[in-house]
Amino acid sequence: MSVHSEIKKVTTKVLINMKSQGEKISMLTAYDFSMASIIDKAGMDIILVGDSASNVMAGNTTTLPMTLEQMIYHAQCVVRGVKRAHVVVDMPFGSYQSGEADALHSAIRIMKETGADSLKIEGGVEVVPSIKKIIDAGIPVMGHIGLMPQSINKYGTYALRANNEEEARKLRSDAKALEEAGCYAIVIEKVPAVLAAEVAKSVSIPIIGIGAGSGADGQVLVMHDMLGINMDFSPKFLRRYANLNQVISEAVVNYINDVKSGDFPNENEQY
Ligand code: KIV
Repeated sequence: MSVHSEIKKVTTKVLINMKSQGEKISMLTAYDFSMASIIDKAGMDIILVGDSASNVMAGNTTTLPMTLEQMIYHAQCVVRGVKRAHVVVDMPFGSYQSGEADALHSAIRIMKETGADSLKIEGGVEVVPSIKKIIDAGIPVMGHIGLMPQSINKYGTYALRANNEEEARKLRSDAKALEEAGCYAIVIEKVPAVLAAEVAKSVSIPIIGIGAGSGADGQVLVMHDMLGINMDFSPKFLRRYANLNQVISEAVVNYINDVKSGDFPNENEQY
C-alpha cells in the first residue's frame, strides 16, 4: 500500500509531498464520466483531461482543433465521476497564446465551469508571464515541456526532443523557470531518460514523464493507448495493459451474431 493511498482528495500539496517522500505519482487521461469514475476508484493520483481528446475522442490528427468549449465539456464529465484523484485540465491551443489577459480569462472559465482542481499549459519561459497571472488568481498550474503536441507545426515531427545540448539546456532552464513561476508539477514528454532524471533531481516539484524514462517522479499515459483501444499508436515508451480493442470487437461481433440469429433476446431477457 502506498503512503498516500488513505488520502481522501489528492491536492497539489499531497503531490509535492509524494515527491519529497519518494512515492511515484500515477497519472492517466480521461475524457468522460464513466471511465473517469473507474480510473478514480482504482486509485489513480491524477486524472488529466488532456487535449489528446482531439485525437482519441474526436478523431483529429493533431490537438490543435480542440476548443475551450470542448475542453470544458470533457472536464465537466470527468469531474462528475471523480472523488479522490486530482483533476487537471489542459488549456487548449488558442486559449492562452495570445496574451496574459486571454490566458487568465480562459483559465477562469475552465475552473468556474468545470470544478476541476488545476490546469496544464504547454510551454517554457515564453508562457511564464501568463502562468504567473493564472497562479496569482489562485489557480494551480502544471507545466508541460519537451514534446509539446500543440507546437507540432513548428517542429514538423513527434520525434524525441532535447537530444542535443542546445535543446537540453533549454529544457533545464524551462523547468527551473516553471518551478520559479510557481507551477506545482511539470509534465516532460519524450526526452532522453538521463536528461529527465537530471531535471527531476534539480527541482523540488514533481516531474511527470511520458516517454521520459524511470527517473521522473511519476508517469502519465493516454488512456486509449494504455488500454489498447487505440492500436494505431505504438511508440517505444508505451506499455499496453489491456487489449480492449479486441475485447470490444469480439463482444460487438457476438452481439451482432446473436441479433441476426434470433438468439438475443431470450425468454429471460424480455417482459
Ligand atoms: O493531452 C494529453 O493527453 C497530454 C499527455 C500526453 C501528457 O498532454
